[in-house]
Amino acid sequence: RVNPDINVQTHPYIATGLKNDKFGIDINDAHKMFHFAKDLKNINLVGIACHIGSLIYDVLPFKQSLKILLTFLDKLKVENIHLSQIDIGGGLGVLNTDACQETIQNFSESISSEFGDRTEQIILEPGRSIIGNAGLLLMKVEHTKRNGDKNFAIVDAGMNDYIRPALYQSEMKIESVTSNSCEKKIYEIVGPVCESGDFLGKNRLMSIKSGDILCLIDAGAYGFAMASNYNSRYRPPEIIISNQQLIMVRKRESFEDITRNESLIN
Ligand SMILES: Cc1ncc(COP(=O)(O)O)c(C=O)c1O
Repeated sequence: RVNPDINVQTHPYIATGLKNDKFGIDINDAHKMFHFAKDLKNINLVGIACHIGSLIYDVLPFKQSLKILLTFLDKLKVENIHLSQIDIGGGLGVLNTDACQETIQNFSESISSEFGDRTEQIILEPGRSIIGNAGLLLMKVEHTKRNGDKNFAIVDAGMNDYIRPALYQSEMKIESVTSNSCEKKIYEIVGPVCESGDFLGKNRLMSIKSGDILCLIDAGAYGFAMASNYNSRYRPPEIIISNQQLIMVRKRESFEDITRNESLIN
């Protein structure tokens, strides 16, 4: 994996292709490594990879990084090192249904035009763009309160269940599943975990009352996989809807689940 030193418009925590990021190796170092490795009898050099970050909506940085990789590949070819695979990683943002087709088409046209009629195999590693909008997180409003200038809706899901807003300020759409006639107010949608960083959405104009069910939209990626038992909280159940049937594919955790591997000292 090389580091192409490409800047992308995303949160710095999920930008991974700049030279000061921890990922990959500098292309000049990679050049030396290929020359070192080409004579090792148990090493078969097949390809080169990069991954420039996540939640990227602009296709230009992907095109730029592909260009850098192709130029490098050509340089190696002249030096008699032939690679057959180029992996440009994942990183496309989560797309809503309207924007999806256009952006994917834009992405593939842009990549193909850069790739031209080359014969190497190109590999993509899409993550959130294929699964993000397939999942929802449902949460119940425990209660509402006002502190200082702010209205809070405290829900029964927290940053341990869905950490992306707290970790890198992901702006998630939140809608109410329950209809009510309460006055609309600007709410902070927060969890029950013991930090002020425990929020799911900020500044949301909504009508909310205790007992309502709210829904975090496009929550299908990096949700359960990043969930934890912080604050001794049980991770939620996972339900798949298939052919209009609800299938529980993971049960809600219990006290036994979260203490199973613990033992008491004498
Ligand atoms: C090497 C690599 N490839 C692909 C991905 C998937 O990224 P995304 O979900 O943004 O498409 C990641 C995510 O961190 C990654 O580290």
